[in-house]
Order: sequence, then structure tokens, then C-alpha cells
Amino acid sequence: MNPFQFQTVPNIIAGLGSIQELKNVLSEKKYSKALLVTDAGMIQHELHQPILDIFQQIGLQSIIYSDIQADPPEHIVLEAVDFAKQEKIDVIIGFGGGSSMDVAKIIALLAHPEQQQNLSEIYGVNQAKAPRLALILIPTTSGTGSEVTPISIVTTGATTKMGVVSPILYADVAILDATFTQGLPAHITAATGIDAMVHAIEAYTSNLKKNFYADMLAKNALKLLNNNLSKVLKNGSDLEARQNMLVGSMLAGQAFANAPVGAVHALAYPLGGHFHLSHGHTNALVLVEVLKFNAPQAKRYYAELMQLLDPRSTGCTDGLCDLFIDHMQNHLDQSGLTLKLKDLDIAESKLPQLARDAMLQTRLLQNNPREITEKDALQIYQAIYS
Ligand SMILES: NC(=O)c1ccc[n+]([C@@H]2O[C@H](COP(=O)([O-])OP(=O)(O)OC[C@H]3O[C@@H](n4cnc5c(N)ncnc54)[C@H](O)[C@@H]3O)[C@@H](O)[C@H]2O)c1
Ligand SMILES: [Fe+2]
Repeated sequence: MNPFQFQTVPNIIAGLGSIQELKNVLSEKKYSKALLVTDAGMIQHELHQPILDIFQQIGLQSIIYSDIQADPPEHIVLEAVDFAKQEKIDVIIGFGGGSSMDVAKIIALLAHPEQQQNLSEIYGVNQAKAPRLALILIPTTSGTGSEVTPISIVTTGATTKMGVVSPILYADVAILDATFTQGLPAHITAATGIDAMVHAIEAYTSNLKKNFYADMLAKNALKLLNNNLSKVLKNGSDLEARQNMLVGSMLAGQAFANAPVGAVHALAYPLGGHFHLSHGHTNALVLVEVLKFNAPQAKRYYAELMQLLDPRSTGCTDGLCDLFIDHMQNHLDQSGLTLKLKDLDIAESKLPQLARDAMLQTRLLQNNPREITEKDALQIYQAIYS
């Protein structure tokens, strides 16, 4: 058995209506002022109202920062940190998708009055160090798993993203209440759901750190996501299925926090950077071609996942591996997402640049089960072009 180290958020509260537990979580610590970090869409839909009600019920002073943008650019992160510093906050609540939660993590770190580091110093693995403010994360998409990962992803240039990865970013509490995800539009439900599935698949085939514990999480995550994605796409109000998706994406987050993701994410990032497509959508675009590319090295794992998803499926490793890839293609076909680059008005002449940029994602590429060259990456982009 491969050696492993497993870390996660110490307090995970999950269930429909579990947002009410926030009252106890906050009351126990006698905080003086909370910052709710979210984006304008969430405020517009008044999704944050139950949280404001709780602040009021327990008499906790609070303030909202709602300027978070999807795939948060560095300047937004810096503005948010400055805002929090001026307000003398002692607890940060990240409420939203991965973008809001990722920024909340960095605010909790950099807005601590005794923190000496600045943003440029903490990119990379294990650069960010204590102290940080108290941090509570409440996901409203079933996708990134950011509520249980030690990762924050920042858009650092026109087309580049960098990660801050450090155990100090594990939140104190994560609350998973799918009542918030009920109104998630179908295209975001689909894209974020595929992202979560990719986390589980890539953790299960992670080259350097695949381990028994992460496998257990990845398998349970994939089962939940697989069994519930089509249900929530058909009926967004199916709260039981929504809660299963939310727990599935959290388990996938725990899996890849410990057995990191590979080439699907590495090839997805340049697409998001250059063409402002959502993180989940870009994963969906490259998923099946990367699975086909990885199959020579990873077919045993894909075959295992196929038998997990459908215990009746039989055949040799190659056959089960092919079935798994077809199975994921079916999910993509049902997702309603545009799956060809040409149909997204992307010029074919951009593909070599995408392949070059993908090669820069060395942190991710080292986790891929098969070594991937720039030429391979180009062939994958060409295969999804038209
Ligand atoms: N930290 C990590 O471990 C990790 C992992 C994967 C991805 N990421 C990052 O997370 C970000 C993507 O996050 P995401 O896919 O969750 O999307 P997001 O946070 O960017 O949100 C996308 C959109 O969905 C809307 N939205 C969110 N919840 C909603 C709800 N319940 N109802 C209606 N609308 C809602 C938001 O307002 C926003 O417009 C990217 O920056 C990506 O790089 C982080
Ligand atoms: Fe992802």
C-alpha cells in the first residue's frame, strides 16, 4: 500500500437546512465582526439572507464584500484583503462557488493583523504560513470542493492562473446545505458537476500520490455524482439529489486535496484563461480526449471505476476502460454544454498557444498517469476542435 498523509477540514456539517448550525458555530467563539465574502449574483438572488438572519439573531456585527468575480483576478483578491483589513474582522465566511471561497481563504490569511506575508510571496506549495483569521466556507455550487481543499486559485495575468496551496488554508468549518444550490442554473449545475467528477477521476489515477484513503473518497464521490447529476439536470428542485451532489463534490475535493489532479485540469486552464469559459466547462471540453490519451497507462483504474458505477458491466480491462470513456461521454452529451472549440468561436490558429500554455502547468502535469508532451496536448486540442 502506498504511504499517505490525509488532512482535511476538522468540522464538516452537512444536511438540508444545516445552515442553521452556523448559529452555534459562531456563538461558541464570541466573534466581534464577520465578513461575508460572496459575489454580486448571490446578493441579487438574496441567497445570503439566511446568513444575515443568523448574524442578526445572535447580534453579530457583519459586513459584506460582494465584488468577487468568477476566476478571481489578483486585483480583486488584493482589494478584498484591503477591505477586510480596514474593517477589523475576526471571522471570514466564504459563501458561493469556488471563486468566493478561494478569495475568502486568502482574506482569512492576509487580513490577519499579525500576518507579515503578502500575496506575491504565498503562491506555490507550502509558502503560506500562519496566522490566519477564523474561516467558515459554505459552497453554493457542487463543483470545486474548495470548502475542503487547502487550495486557492487566482488569475494572475490575462491568461494565467496560480495556486496558493498550504494546509493553513483548510477552513475551520465547512457547511454543506443544498437548499442554496436549488436555483443553480442548469449550465452551471452541469459544468460544476463535471468538474467534481473530474476531481474524483483524476484523484483516482493521480500519478505520485494515489493512495488507499483518497481512492476511498474518490470512489464514493464518483458514485454519488454519477447517480445524481442527471437527476438534478432534469429537476433542479430535487433537494435530495442536490444534497448528494454537494456531498459528492466535497468528497471529491477531499480526494484531490490529497491525491492531486492532472492533465484534464492542466489542459483546461489555458482554455479558461484565453477564452473566459467557466472552470467546469473547460474540464468538460478536454475530459474525454485526455481519458483516451491516458488509457494506455490508466486503463486498469478506468475499468475499476466502470465496475464501480455499473457492477453489471463485464469484460476485459480494455473493454471496461472503453465503456468508462463512453459513459463519461454520455454525461457530457447530456450536460447541454458546448463541446467543440469551433462552436465556441475559438480560432484553430490558437491551438498551438494553448498547448504551449498547458505545458506550464507542471504542478498538475506531474500527477498525470501518462507523460504528456506539447505535441500530445496539441493533438488533444485538435481532437476537440470540430
Ligand atoms: N480551491 C480549489 O480547490 C479549487 C478547485 C477547483 C476550482 N477552483 C476554482 O474555483 C473557481 C470556479 O468555481 P465554481 O465553478 O464553483 O464557480 P464560481 O464560484 O466562479 O461561480 C460561477 C457562477 O455561479 C453563480 N452561482 C454560484 N452559486 C450559485 C447558486 N447557488 N445559485 C445561482 N448562481 C450561483 C455565481 O454567482 C457565479 O456567477 C475557479 O476560479 C477555479 O479555478 C478552486
Ligand atoms: Fe476543478
